[in-house]
Amino acid sequence: MTGRRAFRWPSLLTADGRGIAFGGDYNPDQWPDEVVAEDIRLMREARVNTVALAIFSWDRIEPREGEFTFDWLDSVIDRLGRAGIAVDLASATASAPMWLYENHPEVLPVDKYGHVVNAGSRQSWRPTSPVFKRFALRLCRRLAEHYKDNPYVTAWHMGNEYGWNNRYDYSDTALEAFRAWCEAKYGTIDALNEAWGTAFWSQHVNSFQEVMLPRHMGGDSMVNPPQQLDFERFGNDMLLDFYKAERDAIEEICPGKPFTTNFMVSTDQCCMDYAQWAPEVDFVSNDHYFHEGESHLDELACSDALVASLAADHPWYVMEHSTSAVQWKPLNSRKRNGELLRDSLAHVAIGADAINFFQWRQSTSGAEAFHSAMVPHAGADSKVFRGVCELGKALETLSRAGVQGTTLRRRGTAVLFSAESEWATRSETLPSMRLDHWHAVRDWYRALLDAGTRADVVPLAHDWTGYDTVILPNVLALSDEDVRRLDGFARAGGTVAIDYATGIIDERFHAGLGGYPGAGEGLLRGMIGVRGEEFNILGAQAEGEPGEIALSNGMRTRLWQTDVTAVAPDTTVVATYEGDAAEDWELAGTPAVTRHPWGAGEAIYVGCDLDRHDIARLARTLFTKVDGVCVMPATGDADDDADAAETPAAVVPADGDDPRVLHTVRDNEDRTVRFDFYLNRSACPVTLTGVDGETIIAHRCAAPVADAPAAPAHCATVTLARNAILVTRTVR
Ligand code: GAL
Repeated sequence: MTGRRAFRWPSLLTADGRGIAFGGDYNPDQWPDEVVAEDIRLMREARVNTVALAIFSWDRIEPREGEFTFDWLDSVIDRLGRAGIAVDLASATASAPMWLYENHPEVLPVDKYGHVVNAGSRQSWRPTSPVFKRFALRLCRRLAEHYKDNPYVTAWHMGNEYGWNNRYDYSDTALEAFRAWCEAKYGTIDALNEAWGTAFWSQHVNSFQEVMLPRHMGGDSMVNPPQQLDFERFGNDMLLDFYKAERDAIEEICPGKPFTTNFMVSTDQCCMDYAQWAPEVDFVSNDHYFHEGESHLDELACSDALVASLAADHPWYVMEHSTSAVQWKPLNSRKRNGELLRDSLAHVAIGADAINFFQWRQSTSGAEAFHSAMVPHAGADSKVFRGVCELGKALETLSRAGVQGTTLRRRGTAVLFSAESEWATRSETLPSMRLDHWHAVRDWYRALLDAGTRADVVPLAHDWTGYDTVILPNVLALSDEDVRRLDGFARAGGTVAIDYATGIIDERFHAGLGGYPGAGEGLLRGMIGVRGEEFNILGAQAEGEPGEIALSNGMRTRLWQTDVTAVAPDTTVVATYEGDAAEDWELAGTPAVTRHPWGAGEAIYVGCDLDRHDIARLARTLFTKVDGVCVMPATGDADDDADAAETPAAVVPADGDDPRVLHTVRDNEDRTVRFDFYLNRSACPVTLTGVDGETIIAHRCAAPVADAPAAPAHCATVTLARNAILVTRTVR
């Protein structure tokens, strides 16, 4: 990893520049000028103190090639600033004007079939186009020159969700850049041939000039996986380079202000490897859109846990989320009563110091007219706007209480995430196309919550040696170096948990020899004390095949079982396969879950897929440490408490770990002040007993807690309704 830029947080226009930031994307270019005055009045009413401005305003700033006009933007910034609303100013390059595409069609990307992508959406440009870069950097410089001394511009918002629409470009400019990228990476063509395994299917290349992009090759033909994985890395790198070029162009003229770009961390997408991006921003910001259904809060928490790790113990920024429904899914659920505020404060609970929405005022036309906003179509006299005002007040209360700048307390368990493994699991050449590393991370994260253990989610590339336990759910690709790190960690006393598809390839997408998992040239197998020979995949098309296999501890597997044929003498077999289906597949009595001492630590192997419920049961038993010794019956039924998250009406101690409650802590620098955040994960009320500290926020919390944030009360017992959040402060 490269060195990290220093953390810099945007100031507000308050007397001391401090406060939790609150606002949204502001697109006044969609409205007549008189609406701006009304907007500012409503922003003040809602306590909005910042907006992200001009994200899609290139055509307004440079209406014709080379003709720049800032009057409109000057006037908006000035009015906002005088009203105390700080501006996070965009580089405005996310959406290029139509004249640019018309005059320079060579900037348009090309899809894998060779079709030129048409202009008319956003990000319709090739990340490798020198022509586009020239125009974009000229715009950046003009903006920087014009606004470098503007006191109301307190941060730069580069691009917007880099890669949203131009992640994969198969143009000739991309081809040229890919060849150069490969040459820089491999140095010699022999090294590339070796890494890509080109001996297969006669793909040997004699020079970098023969290297191809993984364009469509007809029919169902399969792309060479190492080539595909390199293409993913290349796309990530090209966009990161583009971001850096834009940032540097502005910074040269306007140094000293913080730079960010909004990431897209959410467990359904993995556009970029943000572990590489995070060191390049001054503060991390993220866009997160809720997942409807029972995973709503858990999914948010899991995504945020990764963002918090990317932010490396600094606060981070929610650049976008929604007040209610989005408009880009086939069916778009609105938020339930209480969720607008609950979701926002859940982000604060996991380390955010800024809560922004897409967008301030709901559009009346364009592709996003039915996307919710802070001021909806119905106007200010609406539930949503009242919810926005309530949120503004709550954030101000949290600011006054001193939440801003406090640090999220880390946990003892880290679930490791690797963008490269997520990309690798998308290959259509694996034993099962149902593998999904990110979803496996989410499932483990949720299962741990069910087991009463909130984990952190940490990029594989980070330093996770400070944790007690690291879990690698389908981290498909592990380099020798990764395996050596795991080895050192376990030898030093850590617990490593590996599951069925972890380490089955290395970072080049090569399978190792000698048995599964093959990564680390046998070291990973040595660590877990297990050797597998084949993968038993269920759910194949064949009629009459069993759909699931039972384990001796009562669990069930439905997709993948590694056929383990050898275990080390000191391996403990925790569960085996049993029953007719296991007999049928010749797995009966073979190890499904094992544990193996390794140095001062231990390696746990889960050789088959388990659902969240079973993972929770396993976690309750496998990761319970008493005085450093794991207490675990070798076999037998696991604890059924994992069901607790779904059982109604409970009374739980606030200082314990209970599956019904998501509990986080943020501390001030010297740990003399702590904030406890309690969120109800279940659909039923939960009563917390022994709550300490003064109440700062009690959203949907029942008496005896004083519900008025202005009048903090010492409390002992609090009932959290569905979508409730309680925030307390304890001063030591
Ligand atoms: C984001 C994007 C916004 C808006 C939003 C709608 O991906 O940055 O401009 O389109 O989605 O949910």
